[in-house]
Amino acid sequence: PTLHIITPTYGRPVQKAELTRLTNTLLHIPNLHWLVVEDSVQRTALVSRLLENTGLNYTHLNVETPENLKTQKKPRNVRFPRGTMQRNLALRWLREHINPNSSHKGVVYFADDDNTYSLELFEEMRWTRNVSVWPVAFVGGLRYESPKINSQGKVFGWKTVFDPRRPFAIDMAGFAVNLQLILSKPQACFKLKRVKGGYQESSLLQGLVTLSDLEPKAANCTKILVWHTRTERPLLVNEGEKGFTSGTMEV
Ligand code: UGA
Ligand code: MN
Repeated sequence: PTLHIITPTYGRPVQKAELTRLTNTLLHIPNLHWLVVEDSVQRTALVSRLLENTGLNYTHLNVETPENLKTQKKPRNVRFPRGTMQRNLALRWLREHINPNSSHKGVVYFADDDNTYSLELFEEMRWTRNVSVWPVAFVGGLRYESPKINSQGKVFGWKTVFDPRRPFAIDMAGFAVNLQLILSKPQACFKLKRVKGGYQESSLLQGLVTLSDLEPKAANCTKILVWHTRTERPLLVNEGEKGFTSGTMEV
């Protein structure tokens, strides 16, 4: 099966660094299709050049999150999920470009540009029949969150503190979906409006599976293969100071 890796990304000082690091991971993975979706009005030259130079098999898309749905410009208590329209566009691309009757076999994974992925994770997810799940480190205020697995190897709940009653209390980095399932449920997508914090993942998964369908990976969810790392914003306080300018160098 081909791994279709969906990555939303947006312009900020560390974007090229993040995408470079993710590229270096993905270059180790055979049979891969990287769908990179920029949160921008146009596909940028920076990302276009970067992708071209990777030699990876990729599709470069873009859709700008409208101003009124962006988290940054909102009061503290209002928070819209990030990367949602971008992931939905990639799902639409797959549905429009891959014939469900073809013999193409694939698995879809949502890989944010800033997380840390072990190579093992990609081989685990490749054998997803419906939806596979595994623990994710550094989410929900914990060292890790994980699906709870019973003695029959079935998921029966969620090891989380933050709202464990969510239908699927799992981070974006904690699951993969068989492409046939995505194609056979054309309505399933991420909801952007009227989703409470932490319910974005559930909004997709509820349209695809029930708890008992989930396939635990990573040695029955006993291993950490992905880390929800977040990159510190570099302090650029001296830009423009005392007439200093760093010019037009691409960083
Ligand atoms: C957590 C989850 O791990 C994300 O999968 C989820 O989208 C997010 O919360 C959310 O629901 O808001 P977090 O580290 O807080 O992640 O989010 P970011 O890494 O900042 O953003 C997730 C992805 O969306 C990244 O790939 C980022 O490049 C992209 N993004 C972020 C945009 O495309 N546009 C933005 O304005 C912000
Ligand atoms: Mn992140």
